[in-house]
Amino acid sequence: MKYLPVKSSLFIENRERLAQLLKPKSLAIFNSNDPMPTNADGTMGFQQNSDLFYLTGIDQEESILLIFPNCPDPKHREVLFLRETSELIAIWEGYKYTKEHAKEVSGIQKIYWTSQFESVLSTLIFEADNIYLNSNEHIRNHSHVQTRDTKFILWAKEHFPLHKFERVAPLMHQLRSIKNLLEIELLIEACRITELGFRRLLNFVKPGITEYEIEAELIHEFVRNRSKGFAYNPIIASGANACVLHYLDNNQVCKDGDLILLDVAAEYANYNSDLSRTIPVNGRFTTRQRAVYNAVYRVFRYAQSILKVGTLWEEYQKEVENFMESQLIDLGLLNRFEVEKQNPEMPLLKKYFMHGVSHHLGLDVHDVWNKYRKVEAGMVFTIEPGIYIKEEGLGIRLENNFLITETGNIDLMANIPIEADEIEDLMNR
Ligand code: GLY
Ligand code: MN
Ligand code: MN
Repeated sequence: MKYLPVKSSLFIENRERLAQLLKPKSLAIFNSNDPMPTNADGTMGFQQNSDLFYLTGIDQEESILLIFPNCPDPKHREVLFLRETSELIAIWEGYKYTKEHAKEVSGIQKIYWTSQFESVLSTLIFEADNIYLNSNEHIRNHSHVQTRDTKFILWAKEHFPLHKFERVAPLMHQLRSIKNLLEIELLIEACRITELGFRRLLNFVKPGITEYEIEAELIHEFVRNRSKGFAYNPIIASGANACVLHYLDNNQVCKDGDLILLDVAAEYANYNSDLSRTIPVNGRFTTRQRAVYNAVYRVFRYAQSILKVGTLWEEYQKEVENFMESQLIDLGLLNRFEVEKQNPEMPLLKKYFMHGVSHHLGLDVHDVWNKYRKVEAGMVFTIEPGIYIKEEGLGIRLENNFLITETGNIDLMANIPIEADEIEDLMNR
């Protein structure tokens, strides 16, 4: 891992908070992710399961966490299983956790090798009535890949058919929606690294540069600051490419007079930042570009002004859309009379602004949440309005990350230049 050690108190507290939510006589089991294969003997690298990381800080494959708060044997109330290393693994793959190191990272005292899992489980499981198991319940998860958690559900149901099974995902969503101070520090570090990358670009971008050269600058800056790299596939979209919301080709030349939409950010210690900026290739906005830019910027600030404790996601989205509608009318993109007669199920503004204003952010970029839960202090959201005008070859999105507090919100990216004048000044220095 490139990141500096994270305090184990984060993971200890997270387990304590989960233990309080389990029914009596319950045991919960969490599996790590598998490294995803490519072809032949290739892999895509390892990305830990967010829940397992949240509860242990263990960033290694083939790890299992078992939590059993009412276990009659206090030593087995929290148990971690680790892939046993060997001389061969040490030669080919390098470092794996020792039990001592894993104890230090996670604060878990009882550690076995993963090969011992079934025998240890059989000594504990009949003291429990309920087994909480994990699955990916993100509302937009469409993956067909079988995870270790999914495989384990099938195995557990076959082996312990008379136990009662419970879903742990809703509890994890409930907990992970509220970030504690240590998590916020990690998010701030991810934002700081993203800022370094973005500032580097302001001196680098000019007509003739390619989108992939910009990508290369960013990854260089991120990795040299202990990030594993991009928090998500970077979108570096010049000109009309910006109107493709998930543009990932990043293979075009940036042309004089065009804008570049950058949706690029770093991860740090598995926590993600999420930034969007739109900058002029030649360092100066045209009058039209600036007008659209400032309209997006006003929507961004408006959203910030209403994103606070007590807000309901759907009402918030609607209010921001109403504000956006008036901006689109002022820009001449929508007609006031047509807007008055529009079908409310299919508002005309969707042609130019077709995505959500905000999402939760944390161990996942589109972090786990429940849309019916009102905004609370400790939640972290993006705010990311955009206007995409295909017929003008122009797309603008601005996106920062906000921590909700009792009295409002804090912009975790307040240091990253966003106003059109400041962007121009920095690009022309
Ligand atoms: N970068 C993904 C998003 O903005 O939601
Ligand atoms: Mn986002
Ligand atoms: Mn983004």
